[in-house]
Amino acid sequence: ERSALWGGRFASGPSPELEALSRSTHFDWRLAPYDLAGSRAHARVLSRSGLLTDDDLTSLLAGIDALEDDVASGAFSPEPGDEDVHTALERGLVERLGAELGGRLRAGRSRNDQIATLGRLYLRDHAAEIGRLVEALVAALADQAERHLGVAMPGRTHLQHAQPVLLSHHLLAHAWPLVRDLDRLADWEKRVAAESPYGSGALAGSSLGLDPEQVAADLGFTGSAPNSIDGTASRDYVAEFAFVTAMIGVDVSRIAEEIILWNTKEFGFVTLDDGYSTGSSIMPQKKNPDIAELARGKAGRVIGNLTGLMATLKALPLAYNRDLQEDKEPVFDSVDTLEVLLPAFTGMIATLTFHTERLESLAPQGFALATDIAEWLVREGVPFREAHEISGACVRVAEGQDKELWDLTDDELAAISPHLTPAVRDVLSVEGSIGSRDARGGTAPVRVAEQLAELRARLS
Ligand code: ARG
Repeated sequence: ERSALWGGRFASGPSPELEALSRSTHFDWRLAPYDLAGSRAHARVLSRSGLLTDDDLTSLLAGIDALEDDVASGAFSPEPGDEDVHTALERGLVERLGAELGGRLRAGRSRNDQIATLGRLYLRDHAAEIGRLVEALVAALADQAERHLGVAMPGRTHLQHAQPVLLSHHLLAHAWPLVRDLDRLADWEKRVAAESPYGSGALAGSSLGLDPEQVAADLGFTGSAPNSIDGTASRDYVAEFAFVTAMIGVDVSRIAEEIILWNTKEFGFVTLDDGYSTGSSIMPQKKNPDIAELARGKAGRVIGNLTGLMATLKALPLAYNRDLQEDKEPVFDSVDTLEVLLPAFTGMIATLTFHTERLESLAPQGFALATDIAEWLVREGVPFREAHEISGACVRVAEGQDKELWDLTDDELAAISPHLTPAVRDVLSVEGSIGSRDARGGTAPVRVAEQLAELRARLS
């Protein structure tokens, strides 16, 4: 006997070509535990409406439990004739309970409201897992920041030396976007939890007096879909999830790119732990930042998943269309990608060695204290426009003599402008420069310590 759920009006079975195209069990089988949870909730709501006797409910729930064990152990798995996860599991139930009882469960539900619900259940679990992994990465960045409080480094804009900053400040600048990603996940979760589609039926709702709110509560949702067409046809929750995962990928890729640069001979800012770097099959000396490169590459992949999903949804008429089956592979891939990437990436960050002397010595180079001269002049009463000119002249003179700003003599400074008294030397140090940026959010040590505490509080 065929396991198709829709044979009645067809004289012949599906062609093998159709079966091959239509089959989704090779990717939707991971939803089996969620489908079974949905079936339990559905059995209970059927019995509450008097459509199942108490004995039938008990037998059905026992059958679902037995099937769940067999799914978990691998004793039960999809066959080539099973179109999708729902078809396979109904076959499993009928095999265990007989067609009379096993066939009762389908009353008042459709694969359309089932799949829309299962997708939410699956993604909610994995949003929680990805949240934990992102939190661990934020904690690793915070630990490195704490370990290196007080260490200066060159701050850059346009990849050029700009102003000295604290290494901790820079590391925390990578942590905050990830904290916002955690907020995005939490916000997504609230929206998704609020609308269980179970009970939407194929599109028009259920006629059997089943209460969608009861099923919703049973499955851990805070409410049910206000519109059965929307409940079965919308996948914005998938696209939004794919966006958050793409954003996490992009945020991680920005850290990755810096690690790759910092790990070069030219930068020499960091050394990667042996356990988190790779060698070359021909060049014995090589120690490559593969984790960071894979992170950079996989960001493109998760962006592609989001883009593909949006293209699938664009201009799709209401309600359910089979196109929607294409929502799964991209978003499952984004889940799998982050769940394998983040632990490795966090390990790489946690074990990174920073070359603090090199960072400190490079911090003021490239005339990175020019802004400090200009701002010192402003505090002396010089208009900023003129102060900017004077400081720029200092850079020009120093550059012409191939030396740094602090190498200019008192006479050279005075010749550039009478405002430049020897007192300006107070700000011509990395410590002075960094310490002066002490407003909220600035790189002064007191503010960075405060910021670190703020970040830790957000995590706990
Ligand atoms: N496998 C389908 C999907 O993922 C389930 C819903 C099928 N519904 C249908 N009417 N063919 O979207």
